[in-house]
Amino acid sequence: MDPTRRARERLASLEADGLLRRAPAISERNGVRYHLDGRPVVGLCSNDYLGLADDPRLRQPLTVPSGAGASRLISGDLPCHRELEARLASLVEADDAVLFPSGFQLNVGVLPTLLEPADQVDSDALNHASLIDGMRLARARPTILAHAEPPLPRPLRTDGVHWWITESIFSMDGDRLDPSAARTHLERGAAMLVDEAHALGLFRRGRGWLGHHDLHPTVVVGTLSKAFGCAGAFVAASRPLCDLIRNRARSFVFSTGTSPVLVARILRSIELVTGSEGDELRERLWANVRHLAALLDPSDRDPPSPIFPIVIGDNALAVSLANRLLEHGWHVQAIRPPTVPVGTARLRLTVSAAHHPAQLDAFAHDLRRLLEDEGLPLRIERGLAPAAPTPTTDARRHA
Ligand SMILES: Cc1ncc(COP(=O)(O)O)c(C=O)c1O
Repeated sequence: MDPTRRARERLASLEADGLLRRAPAISERNGVRYHLDGRPVVGLCSNDYLGLADDPRLRQPLTVPSGAGASRLISGDLPCHRELEARLASLVEADDAVLFPSGFQLNVGVLPTLLEPADQVDSDALNHASLIDGMRLARARPTILAHAEPPLPRPLRTDGVHWWITESIFSMDGDRLDPSAARTHLERGAAMLVDEAHALGLFRRGRGWLGHHDLHPTVVVGTLSKAFGCAGAFVAASRPLCDLIRNRARSFVFSTGTSPVLVARILRSIELVTGSEGDELRERLWANVRHLAALLDPSDRDPPSPIFPIVIGDNALAVSLANRLLEHGWHVQAIRPPTVPVGTARLRLTVSAAHHPAQLDAFAHDLRRLLEDEGLPLRIERGLAPAAPTPTTDARRHA
């Protein structure tokens, strides 16, 4: 069979289901303003929460080498990598940290390294694809917890670890992990891997959501691609766990060390995010978050994150609403399965410190009018779980 023909057929079938995706062609980006296919727009769909991705303060003249030259374990372990890992460990008050080229690469490398066959693994129903794929590669058979439910307090065993795998701010829903449930789980002596991708940098001194509550999960995952405006990710944990990851995580061992150019920018970004400039950006961000919440849904008095899901349900309708917003100069992505559960396609709005409140006023006005025209309610619905979220040990349910 001709693979090109087969690919064409698969693409046609995705299109028929309203699931075909195309990367929007962005140009002339300047903060939240850019051109999309030649049309000037304001973006409300990036994860650049503090508006640092385009910040001139991160564009220092660089004299550092372009490449690490090899995997860290061969000859690519440079002083800048070691400095950054020490800085990241201290950011989350952990003993050690390991830098990865991306968060996806991290989760698919770290989980197979840490999970063992005798372990009991509990995983939130709305976990990110990289966590799910990491558990698949680990050949784990996780119990899939109804979204936001903590694991049952099982008696601890001596032959295996009881893991809770969860995000702290859920990427597509914007709701937050209950810190008291995390505390109870950790105090029992059970283990937790918490992905703080969408939380790190948003709380005091650049901490994540659990750090904000002085909680220290067994393993913390953080990305540098969101509030830090760069790319890359790190895992922070005890020294033996980090050393095991350096030895056995295949996506670390068999991948070239992160470019020193990027490492220099990440170090500068951490300086900014954890200092007084970061405090100012966070103040602006959370003021914008509260402003948009008040405009969209006055009952949303204490919005938990800069992520606002407007659940539409139908894939094609979500795409058509996103296209109509584009005609008004607003770039909002329609998020469809498999990124979100079937039947919960949504407009995922994200707010940044770089938005001007007047932009949010104008956007909310256009969105309200558009939804009214369609006879749809303007409601923020966080944490809509997949159908029938009964706890199950069938890993295939993590779609
Ligand atoms: C919860 C979570 N973990 C990991 C990742 C992957 O991070 P990266 O974009 O650095 O690959 C994402 C990406 O959005 C995410 O939402």
